[in-house]
Amino acid sequence: MLIKKTLELQKGIKIFFQTDIDFEKHRIFLSSGTSTEVEQTLAQIKYCKGAFVPKESWREPNIEEKTLLGINEQLVNINMWDLHQYIGLIRIPDKVLAPLEAILENVRKSPAIALEEWQAVVTHPEVENVIVEVSNYLMPYCLFRHRFKVLGLYIKPPGLKTVTVNSVNNQSENLYIGMHLDSWDRYPLRRRHKSRNRICINLGCEDRFFLFINLTLIDMFYALGLLIPKDIHKHYRGTELGNEFMKQYPSYPVVKLTVRPNEAYIAPTDNLIHDASTRGRAGEAVMKCKLNCLV
Ligand SMILES: [Fe+2]
Repeated sequence: MLIKKTLELQKGIKIFFQTDIDFEKHRIFLSSGTSTEVEQTLAQIKYCKGAFVPKESWREPNIEEKTLLGINEQLVNINMWDLHQYIGLIRIPDKVLAPLEAILENVRKSPAIALEEWQAVVTHPEVENVIVEVSNYLMPYCLFRHRFKVLGLYIKPPGLKTVTVNSVNNQSENLYIGMHLDSWDRYPLRRRHKSRNRICINLGCEDRFFLFINLTLIDMFYALGLLIPKDIHKHYRGTELGNEFMKQYPSYPVVKLTVRPNEAYIAPTDNLIHDASTRGRAGEAVMKCKLNCLV
């Protein structure tokens, strides 16, 4: 039988934020752990069996936890930031995003949108040119310019605890997967830190939230008491480590980073357990739009 253990927030992935971002109170929250017990608020929201979600309630980190997360460290110079290891929060200038926001204007202010309306937005004749302009602005944050990839525009309804669905399933059975690992680059565990980062720009009118556990996969490997070389073959890809970690350490907090409109997070999503949330303050109720890129 698995013995559940307590583990407090460890030193791990830090968050760098650009100097012009107001990193005031109510930016970062910690959950009281993770759980497979998902409260069903909407009948159409169904999770995969065994999916982990952040456990309520959320609290602000104390001074020690803020230091562990590095959130007193401003991104004065991009060279300070280990792009493969840490998370960045940047603000995209209004003028760079204005043409894209004009195309999205109606969507951004709607509480819901029909699929056909969204198709009309993503096939708008100007959308491709406008995204190229935004991509040019993002190039300094890209380590492999030849591997830069626009993943596209996405929308999510408000009020979702986590947003990612299992796209492998057939359309009628889309299930939410909860806290998970991306595998865009399909690297094995020992090379996960070489994967591309993901940039996600909040193009909505309201806050979105990036959720993550502040440990890389190899940090989790060691936290589970596993050793190199003894256990590396069993965890060659490392894709099971996140679930094993959340099972063994159910009180380890999830970090919730608030991403305000026109801000973007840059994160190594192939190397950390994460998701996003559209559940904000009461009264917020419009569609959440985003642009995703691999950099
Ligand atoms: Fe993801």
